[in-house]
Amino acid sequence: MNKTLQKNLDYKKYVIDSKLQYFKPHASKIEKTFAEEISFSLNRDSKYISPKFFYDKKGSDLFEKICSLPEYYPTRTEISILKKLWSELPPFIDDTFRLVELGSGASVKTRLILDVFTNLQKTTEYFPIDISEILAESSEKLLEDYDSLHITGIIDTYQGGLEFLKNYDDKKNLIIFLGSSFGNFSPSDGKNFLQKINSTMKSGDLFLIGLDLVKDSKILESAYNDAQGITAQFNLNVLSRINDELDADFDLNNFSHYSIYNKEDQRIEMYLKSLVNQSVIISKSNLLLGLKKDELIHTEHSHKFTLDQIQKLLTSTGFKINHTWLDEKTHFSLTLVSKV
Ligand code: AVI
Repeated sequence: MNKTLQKNLDYKKYVIDSKLQYFKPHASKIEKTFAEEISFSLNRDSKYISPKFFYDKKGSDLFEKICSLPEYYPTRTEISILKKLWSELPPFIDDTFRLVELGSGASVKTRLILDVFTNLQKTTEYFPIDISEILAESSEKLLEDYDSLHITGIIDTYQGGLEFLKNYDDKKNLIIFLGSSFGNFSPSDGKNFLQKINSTMKSGDLFLIGLDLVKDSKILESAYNDAQGITAQFNLNVLSRINDELDADFDLNNFSHYSIYNKEDQRIEMYLKSLVNQSVIISKSNLLLGLKKDELIHTEHSHKFTLDQIQKLLTSTGFKINHTWLDEKTHFSLTLVSKV
């Protein structure tokens, strides 16, 4: 039995055609359900809903809208930096590298890196890793635009996808994690995540991470409190999702979006604020939720970093920095690292 078959028996393989295949874990591998997680996270004094639940179809569409808002500088700033990679990434890679992306792909950002790869390589292998099946939709679009592309989608959590990759083969990988999604982890989960990436990598592999930088509070707060109220809709949508999927009766009019920059902890904190004393039934979580007026449900942290912190974080998790790219206002960073 070859290495792939032997170690990845937990996955079912779906071959669509010669250029497109997916791996999806067998149901038994899937951990706690949505209903169980919500039951745990709302049945306590400091209530929270994990930000991973934002991204149903509606939430993903709203996030796409956020990315092009005038106040939301991270996406367009990261794009402006990625454009530099056309001429500045080739010295670091060659035609033996595969591109692996953690999180949603197929956006302008992925394409800017695929442009570099397809220009250097006869055939380019791209492995998107995403829990959402939107991955399938976006992969098909990419194949329409890139003739030399072969896609293997891994529909799994980042952890699961990285484990899959480790056991897959010995080909060199450039793993990318863009958009400052890393900032949504808690500091300890973030460190564990970087260690996991590091242990997945072989010597010679590369990792490119996009991180948002500390800046003026006003710029940060308006990025998460846009004038059109799209971020508010994105935040509130998680309650609609709970209503639909867990048979709950949240009245969205009884909540407001609240976000603030915590300077000391260098993070945007996002909450849903209860506007009245209320109780909510979440049937599938077996929960009768009581909320007081002004009580907050925490929904997201978005950490911002200094260049010094980024260097310490990466070196303390076993990486050496090959290059850092910045925009001219030093609002966002892209850092390319390899294993020490
Ligand atoms: C996905 N993530 C990096 C976004 C952020 O900026 O933390 C999510 C987001 N939340 C509100 N606006 C955007």
